[in-house]
Amino acid sequence: MRSRLAGAGGYLPGHLVTNDDLAATLDTSDAWIVERTGIRQRYRVGPADTTTSMAAAAARRALAMAGATAADVDLIIVGTSTPDQAFPSVAVRVQALLGIERGFGFDVSAACAGFVYALSLADALIRTGQARGALVIGSEAFSRILDYTDRGTCVLFGDGAGAVFLRAAAGEGADGILSTHLHAQGSLGDILYVDGALGVADSAGQPLPGKLRMNGREVFRHAVQRLSESVDEALSANGLGRADVDWLVPHQANIRIIDGMGRKLGLPPERVVITVDRHANTSAASIPLALAEAMEDGRIGQGQLVLMEALGGGLVWGSALVRL
Ligand code: ACO
Repeated sequence: MRSRLAGAGGYLPGHLVTNDDLAATLDTSDAWIVERTGIRQRYRVGPADTTTSMAAAAARRALAMAGATAADVDLIIVGTSTPDQAFPSVAVRVQALLGIERGFGFDVSAACAGFVYALSLADALIRTGQARGALVIGSEAFSRILDYTDRGTCVLFGDGAGAVFLRAAAGEGADGILSTHLHAQGSLGDILYVDGALGVADSAGQPLPGKLRMNGREVFRHAVQRLSESVDEALSANGLGRADVDWLVPHQANIRIIDGMGRKLGLPPERVVITVDRHANTSAASIPLALAEAMEDGRIGQGQLVLMEALGGGLVWGSALVRL
């Protein structure tokens, strides 16, 4: 068996936050944020949105593009670092919202690489015959874990969700998920992390704030190196070269990292899907959100080779090569 990517969908919450909005209460500026990151705005959840509700909205759109219904789904995997509850998982909450009564689901904690990790797992479960129709979702409400007094982090992230629907297909065919490649280096866990979790206190017994902390320069340095390696790994595993790639759909963290990867692949900018300017970094949601946008507007179509890559807190990183 192999997994074909049959549809994609995205969802952005309604509350738009521009750089100038942030600069109203923070020592930063639109010019600094645009120059260093490419980000101009981001969306933030309001009272009506949850990680689960955004995931379900994106999933419905992915199913619609695939011409599928909830009855076709027997697996749901959600990449998220901001679940609404410790358990049940976002995945099974989505299952219930979509009215699905069979199959199975779970969440994956792999920060900004959460979608690539989830895609890899779903592909493996389809290849081994344990699922025939899989929703792979990234959904994040990072605004809940940002320290809005820390200008080095809070300007970088946004909320949203993206999803793809994978269908099992028989045999080796030319299309589908060609390969996925996952990596982790836990010894670098302290350059990007959340300082706390539900019920965990510091040594003085005080609850930890549960906010995102980052050494941006270190993350940047590792991102460029690791993502480059991961891209080469995906291409060589399939006997393909850089010129074979039709589209790069990268994790949307920083325009400078994205431009660097595009240059490495020798791809003209119009072959790289970019949403970071409008969505900021939506962590596990960023790749499926970008993919959905480019499939909906017809840029990415059948037969094209799409390369995805992401890196996040852990450090965790990986890539996926998909022929639509
Ligand atoms: N506004 C104005 N000034 C700022 C801001 C801000 N929002 N943030 C930091 N600065 C200041 C710093 O305080 C520092 O000032 P100082 O020189 O007086 O001390 C100066 O800008 C330079 O700070 P650096 O952190 O060295 O700036 P850098 O050029 O590295 O850019 C950035 C910071 C944008 C965070 C960059 O390091 C980066 O993008 N790193 C990758 C991190 C990332 O993308 N993380 C997302 C999660 S992981 C991933 O998705 C890949």
